[in-house]
Amino acid sequence: MNIYYDYGGSVSTRFLERIPTYVQGLDEVLNGGIIKESILLIAGGSGTGKTVLASQIAYFNALHGKNVIYVSFDEGLKLKDYLKGFGWNLDKLIEERKFKLLDLVAPTETLAKDIITFIAHEIREFNAKLLVLDSLTTLLLNTPELAKARSLVDVLRKIKPPGVTVIATANVFYGTRRIGTGVEEVIADTIILLKRFIHKGELRTKMYVLKMRGSAHSRRAHELVFTNIGVKVIPLMPA
Ligand SMILES: Nc1ncnc2c1ncn2[C@@H]1O[C@H](COP(=O)(O)OP(=O)(O)OP(=O)(O)O)[C@@H](O)[C@H]1O
Ligand SMILES: [Mg+2]
Repeated sequence: MNIYYDYGGSVSTRFLERIPTYVQGLDEVLNGGIIKESILLIAGGSGTGKTVLASQIAYFNALHGKNVIYVSFDEGLKLKDYLKGFGWNLDKLIEERKFKLLDLVAPTETLAKDIITFIAHEIREFNAKLLVLDSLTTLLLNTPELAKARSLVDVLRKIKPPGVTVIATANVFYGTRRIGTGVEEVIADTIILLKRFIHKGELRTKMYVLKMRGSAHSRRAHELVFTNIGVKVIPLMPA
């Protein structure tokens, strides 16, 4: 699908193929959607909404016909129950073979490469067009050496079939400013950063696009708003 928004991007970047997010307000912020075949990183502290946002994009892309693999290192199969709260029936999509939920544990350094090879195999077998890694930080956590962690992601990039778009989440640990292990932000083509803030006694989530390789994007602060049918993105009003 090609959607064109005029953020003043150059002609070439405006014609990159995009994948819709099905999140109200987010495609406009991303200048038309997620760039096909790119790696989108959703980074943020615990509870900022990384999993909900990634799941919403994955669920609705599957609902609209794309084969999706969701690798959950953190919630595992419980994710299905969590998402029921928004009225999303993951089991139905799993039965219809549009959605595959892989429940994997954080691997040791030696196993991380095997896990990546396994995921690439699953992508091929399932003919997946969208892969979610939640969280990429958990996958890399036991590979502390930056060069090794980076080469793991490069392996994934090389062995995934063409046409596959990746959404990865990354943790920003409480009290730190660094995104995950440090590798995540470097390998990402696009970074969405989620940050919690308190306004009039209410916990809310700010959203910024930190970078989008090859494309213009909104540079405004936005808010990720939780509703009972999922999340939506609205411009953040100055206090
Ligand atoms: N069914 C729901 N209805 C309303 N709000 C929900 C629902 N499920 C989750 N939330 C909100 O989303 C928050 C958790 O979001 P999410 O799990 O996406 O965070 P996260 O950034 O992935 O956190 P972590 O780093 O711990 O995995 C909850 O604390 C809650 O505020
Ligand atoms: Mg999460």
